[in-house]
Amino acid sequence: MDFEKACWLLPPRTVVLVSTVDSKGNENLAPHSEFVKLYTGQFLLCIEKSHNTYENIKETGEFVVAFPSIEIAKETAITGKPFAKGISEFEKAGLTSIKAKQIKVPLVKECLANFECKLHKEIGTVGTEAILIGNIVETHCDEDKVSTEAKTRLSSKMLLNVEKGRIYSTTNGEPIDTEVNYKEI
Ligand SMILES: Cc1cc2nc3c(=O)[nH]c(=O)nc-3n(C[C@H](O)[C@H](O)[C@H](O)COP(=O)(O)O)c2cc1C
Repeated sequence: MDFEKACWLLPPRTVVLVSTVDSKGNENLAPHSEFVKLYTGQFLLCIEKSHNTYENIKETGEFVVAFPSIEIAKETAITGKPFAKGISEFEKAGLTSIKAKQIKVPLVKECLANFECKLHKEIGTVGTEAILIGNIVETHCDEDKVSTEAKTRLSSKMLLNVEKGRIYSTTNGEPIDTEVNYKEI
């Protein structure tokens, strides 16, 4: 049995959006699913070293992790396309960037929650990906949204990735095919 295929037995992975800026302030946004929340109030992410997201985090030491809902599945998929450095995926996907409190990286207005993070450390490399840990320095989330989400876990609106970055679902919803091939512009 193929390793990747057998791993589809695992629950679908949560998809987050990672917002960054380069040293000139150009904004960038991309979906990420190799993501873990740590008990220490930190996030761990695995990011390809060739990606703009990685370069920007190394340049500024800052990033935002945002939780998209199923309502912006298509927009999320569009942000995954390989746009050149300096081109804003916020604009390409029609998402709104808003000012953060403690860092220069923008939040994603349409997301359920936004976390401002400062790079704590790069702890190593797996293949061509860097393993990064970020300290959460500020959290933005509507309290009502969190309570509703927590009470209705089985009808969660959180976006989950079920197939190759194109098909998304919630925990009990029908999958949504965004018809977006994130590998093509
Ligand atoms: C649902 C989904 C999850 C993804 N997860 C990751 C990830 O965890 N790490 C990563 O390096 N790339 C991941 N990617 C790929 C990047 O988002 C994609 O290559 C993007 O173009 C990188 O953009 P950037 O160069 O602006 O950083 C994912 C893509 C999708 C659609």
